[in-house]
Amino acid sequence: MKNPWWKEAVFYQIYPRSFCDTSGNGIGDLEGIRSKLDYLHWLGVDALWISPFFSSPMRDYGYDVSDYCGVDPLFGNGDSFRQLINDAHARGLRIIIDWVPNHSSDQHPWFIDARKDRNSRCRGWYVWRDGSPDQPPNNWRAAFSDRPAWTWDAHSQQWYLHLFLAEQPDLNWSNPELVAEMMDTLRYWLDLGVDGFRMDVIHCIGKDPALPDVPQAVAKIPYCALNDHESTHQHLQSIRSLLESYPGDRVMVGEVFLLNARQVAAYYGQDDELQMCFNFLPLFTSWDAVAWRERIDEVNTLFLQQGHWPTWALSNHDQPRHRTRYGGSEHRARAAAFLLLALPGTPFLYAGEELGLEDAEVPIDARVDPGGRDGCRAPIPWSAEPPYGWKQHDNWLPWPPDRGERNPEVQQASDTSILQLYRSLLAARRNHASLRSGSFEWMPSSKGILFWKRELAGDFCYLAINFSDQPQRLQYEGALRVELSSQRTNEGFGESPGMLAPDEALLLIPKKD
Ligand code: GLC
Repeated sequence: MKNPWWKEAVFYQIYPRSFCDTSGNGIGDLEGIRSKLDYLHWLGVDALWISPFFSSPMRDYGYDVSDYCGVDPLFGNGDSFRQLINDAHARGLRIIIDWVPNHSSDQHPWFIDARKDRNSRCRGWYVWRDGSPDQPPNNWRAAFSDRPAWTWDAHSQQWYLHLFLAEQPDLNWSNPELVAEMMDTLRYWLDLGVDGFRMDVIHCIGKDPALPDVPQAVAKIPYCALNDHESTHQHLQSIRSLLESYPGDRVMVGEVFLLNARQVAAYYGQDDELQMCFNFLPLFTSWDAVAWRERIDEVNTLFLQQGHWPTWALSNHDQPRHRTRYGGSEHRARAAAFLLLALPGTPFLYAGEELGLEDAEVPIDARVDPGGRDGCRAPIPWSAEPPYGWKQHDNWLPWPPDRGERNPEVQQASDTSILQLYRSLLAARRNHASLRSGSFEWMPSSKGILFWKRELAGDFCYLAINFSDQPQRLQYEGALRVELSSQRTNEGFGESPGMLAPDEALLLIPKKD
């Protein structure tokens, strides 16, 4: 049976504010994304995940939605989105969009109505509790601050729940009217032709109606990293049925921000909930062979062997970029591309990693994000000279380091750039079915190296990564040749790889005689 498209695809995450500005206001927009579709097609990714571009007061830069079906004028309008999706589809690129079902903006008409009084139409669409103004209903913590996840509404004399900012009140998924409204927002975008959704903190939508305190030992952890209630699974089953009522294998990938792979795996259900989950443990794993082997084994056991299709991401808009986390080295950034693109599962690139970008250093007075995530959201430089393909020099955030070299203009012109390496790896995935959906097997290797085999119907690929700072010998039986190295140029390829340089990665294939 043919795999659904999303099992063989490579996704590319775009944070719209930071991608490309065509209007000249220092903030990227949908037209900017459209203007780069040829670049993305050239690069060889298959699908885009576009972070929120919906109407929003931007307290959490779009993750505070005030109209689930509206495009914020900062980014364009409904027509710009329709054009974007048509032009992407014309190039064979799919589009999934963010959906933020756990909370709305406090400026959403639903919350404005809910706040009016205790009997208003939308009151029950949010989570309210009685109490005294100095004692929140439980000990849950909000994200981005060391504050309670509750705000006292003096007007109606009740607390409302918000797992994030006070301007992001939590929606009440035990209210059937709210659920019906949210399902309609999915229909709206499905009808417009989106290929699926990335679902924001999806594990949080169902909550224990008793709202019990968490144990004291975890009371400092934001509650959004702890909530794991059975009612979410029923909601996901309904959402899955809705997606399946549409043609074309619409997909949902969920942000299940629980730092326990077993708990994350439960959100695949019996293949009737999320088709894919983000798994954050690898993203928080350092550049170390032993640590990575453990993460990969865990994914094999808890996901693959249970029939759950894994995802792999090293960076996103919420965490420092992996090149920065791994110490800034170009060699590691290059080797990391092999790790991301050659394990069983669907890889998610974060825009700019193909250029080897690091986080921008953002001075305190230039920081704008309540969660301090500014560095990884720096604008993408497109050309070598200021303003680097943007309309002006001063954009909503400062530039990342080495923008004069880490941009497509310079790197497309160089055969040895990290951008060309990503492109070659993406091409290798297209040429080798084993890399996309083959089996996975560890090969014996010395300390500091991870060495594995992928196989599908007679197609074999071998991957070797040296995580250490010493040259290492790679032992194997049979004749292999280097198809791609993270460090050597084509001229340097020998018949037998023998030695791996520090932080070097190789893609090897059987030698034909
Ligand atoms: C998710 C998003 C993050 C956002 C939060 C609240 O974790 O990735 O950017 O701030 O949800 O919506």
